[in-house]
Amino acid sequence: MVRVVKVAAASELPDRGLTAVEADGEKIVLATTGDGGLYALQDRCSHADFTLSDGQILDGDRIECQYHGAKFDLKSGRAVALPAIRPVKTYDVRVDGDDVLVTLE
Ligand code: FES
Repeated sequence: MVRVVKVAAASELPDRGLTAVEADGEKIVLATTGDGGLYALQDRCSHADFTLSDGQILDGDRIECQYHGAKFDLKSGRAVALPAIRPVKTYDVRVDGDDVLVTLE
């Protein structure tokens, strides 16, 4: 079943940074890239299950896990640097007014 869930207020997100949120029990990291980009990924690194929201955004719309340095493409969730080899789940995310809405399936 597809659900659209409000996870944050857009006005409270940093211009560039990572924000941990939760939607229906799913831990999600929102990534704002400073140039209007907004992405939502599962907040769990595919390498060893640590939280990605403790990491940082890199240029080129990538996120780096702070624990062992794996990197993922923010848009696709694809692993682009070891030690991760599996992708991270991504979610459709959009802003409606001040609501940040994530689609869960
Ligand atoms: S838990 Fe993320 S790189 Fe190891």
